[in-house]
Amino acid sequence: MAGRLSFANITALAPMVRVGTLPMRLLALDYGADVVYCEELIDIKMAQCRRVENEVLQTVDFVAPDDRVMFRTCEKEKQRVVFQMGTADPDRALAVARLVEKDVAAIDVNMGCPKEYSTKGGMGAALLSDPDKIEAILRKLVSGVSVPVTCKIRILPSLEDTLTLARRIEKTGVAAVAVHGRFKDERPRHPVHCDYIGAVARAVAVPVIANGGSLDLVKTHGDIQAFRAAAGASSVMLARAAMWNPSVFRSAGPLPLHDVMIQYLKYALRYDNHAFNSKYCLCQMLRDKVESALGKRVQAAQNNQELSEAFDLVAVFEETQAALEARRDALQSPERRRDHVIAVDGDVTTMALKFQRREYPPQLTPKMFLLEWSRRQKLEQPTYQTVQRAQDRGFQSTVTVENRKYRSSLWEKSKKFAEQASAVVCLRARGIPESRVGQENGGRPHKRKTEDGRDVGQEKRKKQAGDGERETGGS
Ligand code: FNR
Repeated sequence: MAGRLSFANITALAPMVRVGTLPMRLLALDYGADVVYCEELIDIKMAQCRRVENEVLQTVDFVAPDDRVMFRTCEKEKQRVVFQMGTADPDRALAVARLVEKDVAAIDVNMGCPKEYSTKGGMGAALLSDPDKIEAILRKLVSGVSVPVTCKIRILPSLEDTLTLARRIEKTGVAAVAVHGRFKDERPRHPVHCDYIGAVARAVAVPVIANGGSLDLVKTHGDIQAFRAAAGASSVMLARAAMWNPSVFRSAGPLPLHDVMIQYLKYALRYDNHAFNSKYCLCQMLRDKVESALGKRVQAAQNNQELSEAFDLVAVFEETQAALEARRDALQSPERRRDHVIAVDGDVTTMALKFQRREYPPQLTPKMFLLEWSRRQKLEQPTYQTVQRAQDRGFQSTVTVENRKYRSSLWEKSKKFAEQASAVVCLRARGIPESRVGQENGGRPHKRKTEDGRDVGQEKRKKQAGDGERETGGS
């Protein structure tokens, strides 16, 4: 199929927990990687995530119920990023694959992780001894999503068993198999078994991606070719060599590490990467220099600003913050709000907007504006009807005012937010300035009651005590 990611003759950034987040993936692509894998993400956690289009960062975020961004991706990598998941359950794997499939180039299943947290749940390398489960997961994914599906395995103690497994995997319809040339019990310091990888590459017709060469074989871009030849596979996947210096993908040779770290940090700032994650990646790059003066500053940094100071990037930090702030403001401009109207269909008005909590003081929510306005117009109290959908557990509310219905086409993470979003739609569609309530009362909000009739002062005190919901999107 045209446009589908090909895994033949590629060099890839391997999946790496904590390392394979957005800044590292974009950097690897800049330096010449053809394909980039994200860190392994566990199906149970991903299944709880909501897909959020983060308009400020221009990313797509998959956000957990506690508002943590589990997976952040962007247009720049869309054709090249492989989403790797940890799973032991075909149905859950499919649900997660469907959640992300429009935003990624392929789906991969991790079948090589030997760590207990993975294997005890039947995931990772535990799958290697359950080929029926492997087959069930891969078949379900291949038939259920529109993007290519791959898997990453380790080799089995017997070559014959390894080949039998690889052939069985191939029959499921996967687009490629990545082979980490180590046995389940071998550690990263053990030499890689290129002979096994080569035998798998000869046994199957789908592309085989050789992996495991970072320590003893691949130091520079030139070594990638040597590893490819030694492993007899058309494609290569690098983990540690890329983690230590992602410019290993550069055909013109690696760049000085300090320059690479600066580029990394610029991406981290641009995409609001969590500072502790950036710090971790920078420490991996520093390696034995982690105790140097720079290393100590990086280790001591508690936020992006302090990381920027360590690299003399304060000006870049400030510019990036200003640019993001400007975009945030533009997104909230009145012109932009008018653009939100997408449909008036019979008695239903729909707009595409999210409830932005920061736009409202805690004691003056859109629901309260609307209630107050309705009372003054001597209308019946607005009524809210909320539905929840299964795929991402998102909520959508419809508010009815004077027999007209108002709703947002964007689904919210909670019933509370969905109701607020529908109230905003109603206020904007009816041209009720959202600040008018306070202005009409001499600039003071003249609400005495909350939207469900409780005392405003009480509500405010509750909010201050920390019962509010946090913003999503990490921007
Ligand atoms: C890994 N590896 C790994 N593998 C995987 O399938 N999913 C993952 O999330 C991770 N996470 C991870 C984190 C870190 C920090 C390292 C170093 C490794 C294994 C990795 O993809 C690869 O198979 C091995 O490191 C061998 O390849 P190299 O390092 O020799 O190129």
